[in-house]
Amino acid sequence: MKKINSTNDSWNANLYDTKHSFVSEYGSSLIELLAPMPGERILDLGCGTGDLANSLYEKGVNVIGVDKSANMVEQAIQKYPHLEFLVQDATELEYQNEFDAVFSNATLHWVKPPAYALNCIYQSLKKGGRFVAEFGGKGNVQTITDEIIRQRTKAGFDFMPEQFPWYYPSIAEYSTLMEEAGFRVTFAQHYDRPTKLNGENGLKNWIDMFGSSLLEGVPEDTKIEIIAMVEHNVKEALYKEDSWMADYKRIRVVGVKE
Ligand code: BEZ
Repeated sequence: MKKINSTNDSWNANLYDTKHSFVSEYGSSLIELLAPMPGERILDLGCGTGDLANSLYEKGVNVIGVDKSANMVEQAIQKYPHLEFLVQDATELEYQNEFDAVFSNATLHWVKPPAYALNCIYQSLKKGGRFVAEFGGKGNVQTITDEIIRQRTKAGFDFMPEQFPWYYPSIAEYSTLMEEAGFRVTFAQHYDRPTKLNGENGLKNWIDMFGSSLLEGVPEDTKIEIIAMVEHNVKEALYKEDSWMADYKRIRVVGVKE
């Protein structure tokens, strides 16, 4: 199985665990959709620092967690040494007919091209196995990302569409890709999930953790000014009752390998 030697790993596993634990907290309800059975062999694709893989283990699942980020995998191994975690890229999995389910929370919006990942997921599953995923859908955090790009451009730093790091499909688009990969889509939902970003610096922390690539190539002092402008300009839309609320829009899907 291919392992990635991740020298260019921008993920900060400590920041993820301390300031963004909501990612795996929201993922708990995705486990309900997965409805794992004791003894099932399940791949947690994009396991981050391992919290959901451990929840699956506690339900009696034989789980393997994989993530493209070596930093995340290192932290997962430290937190949950009784579990197996590997550095792997979702577009380069080499499993064949091995899993009862592939589970993926808050990962597939980072993965391009999506069809490569779907083909790998399909190949990884046993016949009758299920793919259960949640990730960013069309329009996800658009108020924030549009404003960052607007401020960056205004400051004289161009932004090309291909620099946009995420893939945020509509349900129609993603269900079609799933069907093309061979899945029968049994569930698909695109819903608003306003997401609280804790503290006065919640939006800034979110940009540092997830949106830093939108500011790539911008000098540090200009970045600070841009983030301050973004906070100012989106405050009316996204600051509610003393908290930042990010405009998350999520996709949830279930597909079965027939
Ligand atoms: C995430 O990976 O959790 C994420 C990335 C971009 C926007 C929202 C969430």
